[in-house]
Amino acid sequence: MLTKRIGFIGAGKMGGILIKGILKNRLVSPKNLWICDKFIEKLTSLAKEGANVFVEIEPVVKNADVLFLAIKSQDISEVLEQLKGRVQSGQLIISLVAGVTTSLLIKELGDEISLIRIMPNTPALLGEGITAISSTKRVNPEQRVLLKRIMATVGEVVEIPESQQNAVTGLSGSGPAYIYTVIQGLVKGGVRAGLSPELALRLATQTTLGAARMAKESNSSLEELRQAVASPGGTTIEGLKVLKEGRLEECLAEAVVKATQRAKELNK
Ligand SMILES: NC(=O)c1ccc[n+]([C@@H]2O[C@H](COP(=O)([O-])OP(=O)(O)OC[C@H]3O[C@@H](n4cnc5c(N)ncnc54)[C@H](OP(=O)(O)O)[C@@H]3O)[C@@H](O)[C@H]2O)c1
Repeated sequence: MLTKRIGFIGAGKMGGILIKGILKNRLVSPKNLWICDKFIEKLTSLAKEGANVFVEIEPVVKNADVLFLAIKSQDISEVLEQLKGRVQSGQLIISLVAGVTTSLLIKELGDEISLIRIMPNTPALLGEGITAISSTKRVNPEQRVLLKRIMATVGEVVEIPESQQNAVTGLSGSGPAYIYTVIQGLVKGGVRAGLSPELALRLATQTTLGAARMAKESNSSLEELRQAVASPGGTTIEGLKVLKEGRLEECLAEAVVKATQRAKELNK
């Protein structure tokens, strides 16, 4: 168990998932969690678990060794105003705010801050997330190792140059929503073809999980894996024709690019 105090500004969807992951994996004792959110109701259950919860930012900034900024980009200016002059030397700031660059944060908070930008995703709730991390120059090796250890409790970790963060946001940050849409389509089709919604969902989710593991773990290319399912004159090839006509692959690619562009806009 770490003895560091971990702070969160924002305990919404993503912040809440990371907090749950930290608690579930007993990474720190609840008394070493310092959390603030605008609405105290969101914090009630965390307070019951023994975390220190506040509606004000100040006590969290004062006490955290590692401080996660888990607010939406539209709230960043307000939070930065409150953080100015309060960040202490040695404190590690982790921003998971989509689109917002480290240069903007450093400009506002000062050149001496230790700052890492990250992009996690919601499957972190089940320990199946992936987090891309980009360090800045004042971050020391111990701080990088510490963050990797924290994020590894909720999934995989990759280190990337910050220039790729918006693309990661468009792919793995937003990606779960695209995959849910794919699953929804499979379920809809299953029901249309005569299955119960429950069975269709079970088949669709396990097929998605299994196919993802095949894509990740087998030595075959995606095309080879596809061909192994779609034999000439068989059933799958008919389904794939429909997907080709509907440009599913292109649509998904365009979704990633569009979300990446949106992440870029958020810095403004
Ligand atoms: N959700 C995802 O899948 C995901 C994935 C990767 C990264 N992210 C990033 O994570 C960040 C948070 O996203 P989210 O989906 O978790 O949003 P969210 O659910 O809206 O959470 C943000 C939380 O911060 C609170 N907050 C806003 N201003 C605050 C302030 N001044 N002091 C304290 N708390 C404040 C919000 O309260 P109110 O609701 O009252 O405003 C809300 O509870 C975003 O930048 C997003 O891009 C999200």
